[in-house]
Amino acid sequence: TDLYAVFGNPIVQSKSPYIHGEFAKQTSQDISYQAIESPVDQFESTLRTFITQGAKGANVTAPFKEQAYALCDELSELAKLAGAVNTLSFTSKGKIIGDNTDGVGLVNDLQMQFGALDSKRILLVGAGGAARGCILPLLQSHIGKLVICNRTYNKAQQLATLFHDYGHVCAEDINTLNDEFDIVINSTSAGLSGELAPLPEAIIGPNTMCYDMSYGKNITIFNQWAQSVGAKHTVNGLGMLVGQAAKSFSIWRGVMPDPQMIMSTIRQQMS
Ligand code: ATR
Repeated sequence: TDLYAVFGNPIVQSKSPYIHGEFAKQTSQDISYQAIESPVDQFESTLRTFITQGAKGANVTAPFKEQAYALCDELSELAKLAGAVNTLSFTSKGKIIGDNTDGVGLVNDLQMQFGALDSKRILLVGAGGAARGCILPLLQSHIGKLVICNRTYNKAQQLATLFHDYGHVCAEDINTLNDEFDIVINSTSAGLSGELAPLPEAIIGPNTMCYDMSYGKNITIFNQWAQSVGAKHTVNGLGMLVGQAAKSFSIWRGVMPDPQMIMSTIRQQMS
């Protein structure tokens, strides 16, 4: 049995052990996957203890993704540009290899829910770690253009500059946006504190589809707002969660599980 875990703080709420357990059954892989709550100031030592136990890999969630990035011996291109990792692989020679599967999870779910992204005008709201991790996979999906906006404009500009060479991406001031978008993605953590980024209604038209990376029992604040101003379709980030897990699983095990097979059960668990 190969050992894996997800590291975070807090971690009790994590669905990853369930998801990876289902993926293992689906693909007949002999793995064990646990949830480990690392003390906030002891991530590295907690992780190294786990590696000493013979572990093969780990997922990393908040607030440790940047720390995990910093301690990797090797990084994938996606992880390098994301500046954060959510997937670690431990080699037999003792190396730690980092990857970031969040963006692939997002893009796969967007395509599943909204169809092909070709030529789509996409607005990414937020410029923190969650936004940064998704930009490269979005730019690699033949989209029309990606506009980044944020409460703090400066951070949106920095991200647009960072990814300038990888596709059609720019930053716009959140207060003066007045174009309709095909897809609007919320990556902010505003909803966690019951808030909403100050978005103008003009970005939402009758054909606009909205995606909130957050999810919960009830409709998210961002999706509630999007519906109230006439968005065509709103989706939460549950599919992204399962999608990033599927990609991590495939990196570790060399076989891609089918996220759709567990989506309805996960949705039921949420309600
Ligand atoms: P994460 O890793 O979840 O992206 P983060 O790096 O702290 O977390 O980034 C949080 C993002 O949510 C930022 O874009 C932040 O905007 P600022 O850069 O202006 O801080 C955004 N955010 C958080 N609370 C918000 C709020 N109440 N209104 C608007 N944006 C908010």
